[in-house]
Amino acid sequence: MASKGFTIDFSGKCIIITGGNRGIGYAYSRAVAQAGARVAIIYRSSKDAHDVAEKLGKEFGVQVKAYQCDVSDAEQTAQTFSLINDDLGPVTGLIANAGVSVVKPALELTSEDFHKVYGVNVLGVFNSTKAATKLWIDKKHGGSIVITSSMSSRIINQIAPNEPLTQVFYNSSKGAVSTLMKGLAAEWATHGIRVNALSPGYVNTDQTSGMEARILENQAKTIPLGRFAEPHEMAGQAVLLLSDHASYMTGGEYFVDGGHLIW
Ligand SMILES: NC(=O)c1ccc[n+]([C@@H]2O[C@H](COP(=O)([O-])OP(=O)(O)OC[C@H]3O[C@@H](n4cnc5c(N)ncnc54)[C@H](OP(=O)(O)O)[C@@H]3O)[C@@H](O)[C@H]2O)c1
Repeated sequence: MASKGFTIDFSGKCIIITGGNRGIGYAYSRAVAQAGARVAIIYRSSKDAHDVAEKLGKEFGVQVKAYQCDVSDAEQTAQTFSLINDDLGPVTGLIANAGVSVVKPALELTSEDFHKVYGVNVLGVFNSTKAATKLWIDKKHGGSIVITSSMSSRIINQIAPNEPLTQVFYNSSKGAVSTLMKGLAAEWATHGIRVNALSPGYVNTDQTSGMEARILENQAKTIPLGRFAEPHEMAGQAVLLLSDHASYMTGGEYFVDGGHLIW
């Protein structure tokens, strides 16, 4: 019999992706739609999120819908997940991906900046994972959660040798969310819920495109593979972690960083 390859088929699955309308999140949305899942994209304010969803649905012949929701608001997040479960569900997987940064020297950072960054990167991830897990525990079935953390959970990014990219709230929020991931994996394992983190290195998205060319060049030089990633290069690891091929993987942080952490 001819080999059919080693495949991942998400037909019959329903996956929520926060921040799934652009950047790395869009690459996840595209990959899971391509694998056959119904996709719920959560966005905060982008005007084109519904068009993005419609196009993706047409391209792969699956249901893809966009939902506006601020993940830093626990109640709104729980309500949106419940609505998605009724609309497209049952929800089987979540990628908690939405994230923001504030780049300023530490002495200029404010409490407002702290709440902006931690509200999305830590509390927003927590709200999303809790809302998904509530759906699953109530129905007594498992699920898989992937959190987009960052290699910034381990390092301080540089703009030149020995010159930091000044975003201490961002880096520390990623350290926090990687530890949050481990705690949730430990608490929810007995419910059949796996929780892992995918930690990208530098990726070409709106988050990085605003930086000066000199900084981008210096950063690329620090990566063994010699370049930033394209968003789609994050998708394989996320799809694997969502799938049953990863049935023994939980509590892990997977770095997709072109080798950056070798140094
Ligand atoms: N780019 C990189 O080099 C890099 C490296 C390591 C880790 N990461 C992480 O990867 C993730 C995605 O990054 P990216 O570069 O793709 O980001 P991006 O292009 O800036 O997109 C951010 C996404 O998050 C959504 N979002 C922000 N705040 C939200 C909120 N309160 N509620 C709901 N959605 C919200 C945005 O929705 P709207 O479009 O509606 O604003 C958008 O879809 C983030 O967690 C980031 O920290 C990125």
